[in-house]
Amino acid sequence: MTSNDMEYLTIALPKGKLFAPAAKMLAEVGYTAEGLSEDSRKLVIANDELKVRFIIVKTADLPTYVEYGAADIGIIGKDVLLEEDKDVYELLDLKFGLCRMMLAVPEALAQDRLADYAHMRVATKYPKIAERFFRDAGIQVEIIKLNGSIELAPIVGLAEMIVDLVETGRTLKENKLIEVARIHPATARMVANRVSFKMKFDRINKLKEDLKRLVEGVAEK
Ligand code: PRP
Repeated sequence: MTSNDMEYLTIALPKGKLFAPAAKMLAEVGYTAEGLSEDSRKLVIANDELKVRFIIVKTADLPTYVEYGAADIGIIGKDVLLEEDKDVYELLDLKFGLCRMMLAVPEALAQDRLADYAHMRVATKYPKIAERFFRDAGIQVEIIKLNGSIELAPIVGLAEMIVDLVETGRTLKENKLIEVARIHPATARMVANRVSFKMKFDRINKLKEDLKRLVEGVAEK
């Protein structure tokens, strides 16, 4: 680490649904920077007064930035942590962005038992989570990795099933899919690089405690 790296705290924020609530939460505990916006073309936005630097990264890449110490801390969904399986320190459940990972199929393909889905194709943005789920259930399936709009796959016959996130259930409903198994719930988490957590302990731990109080609804003194 350079002295500049030691002086600044680098926070990674993910593009997408979690960006706005994550930035809002950090602002509520005093971590802001002028021009911090998801649409910013600037990828590093610093607040030199607070000695904080925000980097805006693609969601699936966030754990990699934190694992390698390119960011000291980050805010990311538990789904991404489980899928990417990087060596980062999970410090706090921030309790927002609640959704669940699940298995869904078109109504017409719904089976009585999970085992009846054996040898079918499953489309997903989360191949590791899907593989673990079916392996644990002792069911062999073919996994097809996609990068988005997963619900389209069964409609056009690319796959029979999907493993994906559900938040409100609207996307499933509009595409006539039904949930047949819940895999796990997910919320946003604060994560830290293991070395940064030791080297910048006071700062990171204070931020964690401030966020914890906010999450628990305890007023700041
Ligand atoms: C996510 C997820 C579902 C949808 C669920 O997709 O993959 O498609 O949101 O939300 P709902 O239950 O409230 O309808 P996202 O919008 O992140 O885009 P993507 O399909 O490109 O991954």
